Amino acid sequence: MITIQEVSKVYSLESGDFFALNNNNIHINKGEFAAIMGPSGSGKSTLLQLIGGLDQPSSGNLIVDGIQLNNLNEKERTLFRRKKVGFVFQNYQLLPMMTVSENIALSLSANKASKTEINLRVQQLLKDVNLEGKGSQFPSQLSGGQQQRVAIARALAMKPQLILADEPTGNLDQKNGEDILALLSKLNNEEQITIVMVTHDLQAAAAAGRIIVIRDGEIVNDQKKGVLGHESMASSLA
Ligand SMILES: Nc1ncnc2c1ncn2[C@@H]1O[C@H](COP(=O)(O)OP(=O)(O)OP(=O)(O)O)[C@@H](O)[C@H]1O
Ligand SMILES: [Mg+2]
Repeated sequence: MITIQEVSKVYSLESGDFFALNNNNIHINKGEFAAIMGPSGSGKSTLLQLIGGLDQPSSGNLIVDGIQLNNLNEKERTLFRRKKVGFVFQNYQLLPMMTVSENIALSLSANKASKTEINLRVQQLLKDVNLEGKGSQFPSQLSGGQQQRVAIARALAMKPQLILADEPTGNLDQKNGEDILALLSKLNNEEQITIVMVTHDLQAAAAAGRIIVIRDGEIVNDQKKGVLGHESMASSLA
């Protein structure tokens, strides 16, 4: 599903070149739920943005769902993001002047779906994330956990095979965080949606079947869940 080959992201600073990502190789299979962990500034969000086509690498190849991202022009990149990837962010990134339904429908409208089609899909998505009846409210009228569930519904609107989530539980309390992780796990288990989730929280990462640890732009650990869960990861995160 995701193949990353010798990918680097370099920023030219006055002090010289800074490698936000340095020559990384990763393969993530369809249906995997992978967590990306590592200290602040280690390159986690940068990596997610490259996978999602929000940003381009300085060198190396990214292949997502059979598409070589390097070869896409701006327009193709926009279509790739809209059709192939659902993004979920820490601060939800809902549009405040739009209702919950309008937020969920954004990519459907952009893709010129019919009104009937949009309404049906939005009703189904509201049901899927347990927000039935909230469609005509505005984001500010919802709790943080509810807003994040709107963001997940929006991410799912185009039926993407891949969800990229950057600290999706970062702004939530324990209970709401667990609900969001349960929802992501359900999508992964029942619909085989591939999920790549950046998190600081080992408890959140435990929802994933694999933990990839980045430090200073390099992958320093990459482990699938074993019989002991992720316990053996603790040392590389310390
Ligand atoms: N536009 C930019 N110009 C220069 N440096 C940048 C730019 N964008 C990001 N960086 C640097 O790249 C590094 C990786 O940033 P990134 O946002 O990926 O970190 P992160 O692991 O997501 O951190 P956090 O956990 O705090 O979100 C950081 O050191 C950051 O300062
Ligand atoms: Mg980040």
